[in-house]
Amino acid sequence: MKIKQKIAIIGVGKMGNTMIDSLLRNQVVNSNQIYGTTFRMDNAKKIEEKFQIKSDTDNLQAAAQSDIILLAVKPQIIPQVLRQVDPVLNKGKLVISIAAAISTRFIEKQINKEIPVIRAMPNIASLVNEGMTVLCPGQFVDDEQLEITLNIFSSIGKVEIIHREELMDVVTALSGSGPAYSYMMIESLTDGGVRMGLSRELARKLAAQSVLGGAKMVLKTGLHPALLKDEVTTPAGVTIDGLMELEDGGFRVALIKAIDHATQKSKQISK
Ligand SMILES: NC(=O)c1ccc[n+]([C@@H]2O[C@H](COP(=O)([O-])OP(=O)(O)OC[C@H]3O[C@@H](n4cnc5c(N)ncnc54)[C@H](OP(=O)(O)O)[C@@H]3O)[C@@H](O)[C@H]2O)c1
Repeated sequence: MKIKQKIAIIGVGKMGNTMIDSLLRNQVVNSNQIYGTTFRMDNAKKIEEKFQIKSDTDNLQAAAQSDIILLAVKPQIIPQVLRQVDPVLNKGKLVISIAAAISTRFIEKQINKEIPVIRAMPNIASLVNEGMTVLCPGQFVDDEQLEITLNIFSSIGKVEIIHREELMDVVTALSGSGPAYSYMMIESLTDGGVRMGLSRELARKLAAQSVLGGAKMVLKTGLHPALLKDEVTTPAGVTIDGLMELEDGGFRVALIKAIDHATQKSKQISK
């Protein structure tokens, strides 16, 4: 759905590029509604040419001329950027941050005004419009601002909203890092196929499409994954032997532990 607000994207790197590309492709905004900034001027000019948007290195101007300020710089740069845009921040501006491990409270505290701040955790699959974003509103956000943010992130995939911000560490560990876990699974399945004689190219395609298909079945049917697994497991068939090896290798426990450890790491970085 189209929005009428102007958006400043502070830090047009990997995620910033993805956001702009999706927002324009899905006609959520027109190019004259986006103002992008980067650290280096030559990069800003490349962005300007690529998307036909206004782009430079002036964070203050970008924030001044926009209704929404989307912070897409690395987490350690956030305090510096907030200091730069502070003079133009007021209740009429919405700040959205996609920086990992930076809380809404941290941003609110640094701004020290009653400004709406929404924290968003998207993932890299946003690049192919299959992203998973979780939003968490700060204390001064109203329903309309949350709705606008939902619209923005719907253009790059699925969106959920949570209100308990401490859970954003789990979100980071699960869906933020999730694509990396699936890459590893696809890589390993491919090696298995190659080991048994398939060409690498064919094995990778079979592995990736199977992971994609399984994921779509879970999302589209809404059925419990265990039920879907049972449906494709013929008595004394092939799949049960594969499943037994996965159990023997501690597959489930390894994934559960991965989320546990990655969550702890996210908590540690947040501090
Ligand atoms: N990548 C992911 O999968 C992912 C997922 C979820 C959340 N995030 C979050 O998204 C944020 C961006 O990550 P990324 O992977 O897109 O990083 P990135 O590719 O390194 O992009 C960072 C961008 O910030 C710009 N920048 C640096 N200092 C700046 C300043 N003072 N003012 C304006 N722009 C400045 C850089 O400009 P130059 O190009 O000129 O150096 C660069 O374009 C991070 O906070 C990360 O935690 C990333």
